[in-house]
Amino acid sequence: MTNPATDSGAPIAQPAPKKEDGTVEESSHEQVVTPWEVQGAQVDGKLVAIDYNKLIEQFGTRRIDEPLLERLERLTGRKPHPFLRRGLFFSHRDLTQLLDRYEKGKPFYLYTGRGPSSGSMHVGHMVPFIFCKWLQDVFQCPLVIQLTDDEKFLFKQELKMADALKYSLENAKDIMAFGFDPEKTLIFSNLNYMNAGFYQNVVKIAKCITTSVSKATFGFNDSDNVGKVHFVSVQAAPSFSNSFPQIFGPKGDIPCLIPCAIDQDPYFRLTRDVANRLKYPKPALIHAMFFPALQGPGSKMSASNPNSAIYLTDTPAQIKNKINKYAFSGGAATLEEQRKFGGNPDVDVSFQYLRFFLEDDEELADIEAKYKSGEMLTGELKQRCIAVVSALVKDMQDRRKTLTQEIVDKFFNAGPRTPFAPAAPVQA
Ligand code: TRP
Repeated sequence: MTNPATDSGAPIAQPAPKKEDGTVEESSHEQVVTPWEVQGAQVDGKLVAIDYNKLIEQFGTRRIDEPLLERLERLTGRKPHPFLRRGLFFSHRDLTQLLDRYEKGKPFYLYTGRGPSSGSMHVGHMVPFIFCKWLQDVFQCPLVIQLTDDEKFLFKQELKMADALKYSLENAKDIMAFGFDPEKTLIFSNLNYMNAGFYQNVVKIAKCITTSVSKATFGFNDSDNVGKVHFVSVQAAPSFSNSFPQIFGPKGDIPCLIPCAIDQDPYFRLTRDVANRLKYPKPALIHAMFFPALQGPGSKMSASNPNSAIYLTDTPAQIKNKINKYAFSGGAATLEEQRKFGGNPDVDVSFQYLRFFLEDDEELADIEAKYKSGEMLTGELKQRCIAVVSALVKDMQDRRKTLTQEIVDKFFNAGPRTPFAPAAPVQA
């Protein structure tokens, strides 16, 4: 049980013990979900999918249920986004309270972010941004997007400052291609952006978080650099509206809603505790499930293995090849068995990608039924996945090409300051 006075709950689970080659020592361990590691439980040497009910219980969040979706539809006059209808955004904190405010005509804003770990985003990274675009359209609210190039610099020993800056600029342009309203959206790189309001909040937050709380929440030890221990203050700061005086003026009482994958929750549990002490409104959260790597549940998308994910820079031929060759199949071992017993869409990566990106509910249900019954074979399912993912990536590439310097400046300059000064590292 979480303490009702705070969100902090239990410290996050420690990563499973590892051997020197990076593989896990034991044949059984619990699932691990931290901002750095996501792994399903292992039972007798076999990895199993993430148990999201368990996460809700462990983190002390609320499930997004039918009555909440119905209320959202009533209030906005819009059918909930497919991510909501399909339970892909499945959990929340204080969304009900946020809707109470909205019902009374009171404003809120959206906050999300991205850790630019490489020059190109993959399709899994699109999920929170697609959702934010929908939320911004529906609620017509401001959106702030934090690029945590500082986080990547601190956490990746080998990453150079110049590369961190380059990645965040490239990622920023990908993000701009989602079609956000440039008048209502600020995209900023931490390494380039620290105005007075923002930094004052960073230090106010830092003063409320002890080293031992940061260590217990994130699993740091004494050989981790102090920047890591402090970083939570930087990720927390955009949750408070007076961090953005150019948008909200001095007002610190406008709450935000944070769409994020659930691995980011530990940051915002601490943020919510701190909000109480600083007399700021607590941020509300809405949590997404994880996007599976091509190799299936239990495997990881990683920048070091380009075949683990579809990137926004991939060509149609690369997308086709990756899905055909690497997308984990839930199909039966032989054609006869598939016809007889059908496939398992729950673990089938092509089906899961369609669950995220195929808009038509009826077609999705039809594919699911046919795949399960054995009427549809893996090859056919992959074809549909290739078509949908290729169209998505092409769309992003086309929109990115239309970005002008003027639009780029607008996103970076939602106010008097320059959130993205020329991306040059300070010379050592
Ligand atoms: N730490 C996140 C990452 O590595 C980036 C991030 C910063 C973020 N602020 C956020 C993500 C708010 C979601 C919501 O990707």
